[in-house]
Amino acid sequence: MKRTSRLRGFYKLSVEERVDVVVRWAELTAEEKAVLVGQEGLSTSQADHMIENVVGVHGLPLGIAANFLINGRDYLIPMAIEEPSVVAGASFAARLVRAGGGFIATSTPPEMIAQIQVLDLIDPWAARFDLLAAKSRLLELANQTDPLIVSLGGGARDLEVRVIEHSPVGPMVVVHLIFDCRDAMGANTVNTAAEALAPTVEEITGGRVVLRILSNLADRRLARAKAVIPAEALAFGEFAGETVVERIIEAYALAAADPYRAATHNKGIMNGIDAVVIACGNDWRAIEAGAHSYAARSGRYTSLSTWAKDAEGNLVGTLELPLAVGIVGGASRVHPTARVALKILGVRTANELAEVIVSVGLAQNLAAIRALATEGIQRGHMELHARQVAIAAGAEGEMIERVAAQLVAERRIRLDRAQEILSGMCTE
Ligand code: MEV
Repeated sequence: MKRTSRLRGFYKLSVEERVDVVVRWAELTAEEKAVLVGQEGLSTSQADHMIENVVGVHGLPLGIAANFLINGRDYLIPMAIEEPSVVAGASFAARLVRAGGGFIATSTPPEMIAQIQVLDLIDPWAARFDLLAAKSRLLELANQTDPLIVSLGGGARDLEVRVIEHSPVGPMVVVHLIFDCRDAMGANTVNTAAEALAPTVEEITGGRVVLRILSNLADRRLARAKAVIPAEALAFGEFAGETVVERIIEAYALAAADPYRAATHNKGIMNGIDAVVIACGNDWRAIEAGAHSYAARSGRYTSLSTWAKDAEGNLVGTLELPLAVGIVGGASRVHPTARVALKILGVRTANELAEVIVSVGLAQNLAAIRALATEGIQRGHMELHARQVAIAAGAEGEMIERVAAQLVAERRIRLDRAQEILSGMCTE
């Protein structure tokens, strides 16, 4: 049978049944299954080695987004997030994109930028010249700091030198070391390299080095996704597919033009991106910083995605942003749930992980603006909210859906009404 992530009715299964689907999908061991169902997740003693002053472990729901087809390969997507509708939205949008052949995703080499700030320069332009003239010596020095990454095909790639002529502390030179981090996120690698270069940079320039740290505006490490959705796949209820295409493009136009809308539009994209980044034990603050600084790279904050119509009337979406994620080192290897999440994804390289994540971001954006531009998001939210109210009222098993459906039909999503409905059903 062909292996497909198109899982019909996955959301209707019990947690145990869903876990079994995932166990079979990723061939998880009994230990890995136990990690998922919460018996063998991150322990307090493991946590104690990760950060300081540990007093416990903080949980988040882990959901699976289905239906993703990316570069011709099927994926089940683990998402760690507390917000309802996000996992459902991603799965729904992935189904729409599937109708057009799935996501096409690409990524640039996993190159990080480390910055070295040089002050107290008499002639910053001469300092720049001298640093560029010593490029091979500096790159060689940087490579000596991480022979393992070099042996895996990574290492120092380039050196760029910028001059900031006017600043409150006088002229500055900023050295950018470009370093290919292969499958690591690379923060430690590039920070170590930047610190190692500093004395030589001072010697070459006669200046004084202050900062030596990576830049989260990782614009050499970009991931891109594209989706083409046939208009007819977007039709629903009273909305013709062409109307939905037009409305989505109109909604996007506001995000492209207005930072107030762009912030919310991009937040919707990051709902999907962060959830996968967190599930895989990566640094989501780094990803957030990279995304929003990239969205402002023209000097005006704008949408990270684009939406347009092609000659056949299909809806075409694209998304591009820096995605510095790794599959080796850091929490992605230490955190048991992150390890299982990576196994479920089945990605073989950090680039592949970035290509999956950018596709999820585009799916999330599509789900949000499609709903916003047509029926609004409250109906979907209310259905999920109704289930939570039904559970709070004491509903169990199939009663949850029945009570929730009644609450939605009556448009009265209140605990007291849920309790009334439930007691009515119990005496039926
Ligand atoms: C809510 O978490 C995200 C949205 O606001 C995104 C958007 O407005 O595009 C629905």
